[in-house]
Amino acid sequence: MTEFTPVAKTSDIPPGERKRVELNGQRVSIFNINGEYFAIHDICPHKKTAPLIRGTLNGTGIKCPNHGYRFDLKTGKCDRGDRWNTQVYPIKIEGSEIFIGISP
Ligand code: FES
Repeated sequence: MTEFTPVAKTSDIPPGERKRVELNGQRVSIFNINGEYFAIHDICPHKKTAPLIRGTLNGTGIKCPNHGYRFDLKTGKCDRGDRWNTQVYPIKIEGSEIFIGISP
């Protein structure tokens, strides 16, 4: 079962902004795109070093700052092939609180 944990306030991440949080020892980047929130594992799976928080957004795609692989923030799918797909997390908003869901 997915457990939701509060990680930030909605006011911390207004539209167009992003924030990295740590949850269960994992870095997760949260993006607010036109009022909709997305959460993705922050470390790019390609070389496992680059932080996607510093990537370039295009719609709901985030481009890694190192070699330009793109990841869909909705699905975690990589444009260079499924072996590079990464993890995205469900988000829940309650009041002014942003929750991220992680499956144990
Ligand atoms: S480290 Fe992200 S594309 Fe290479």
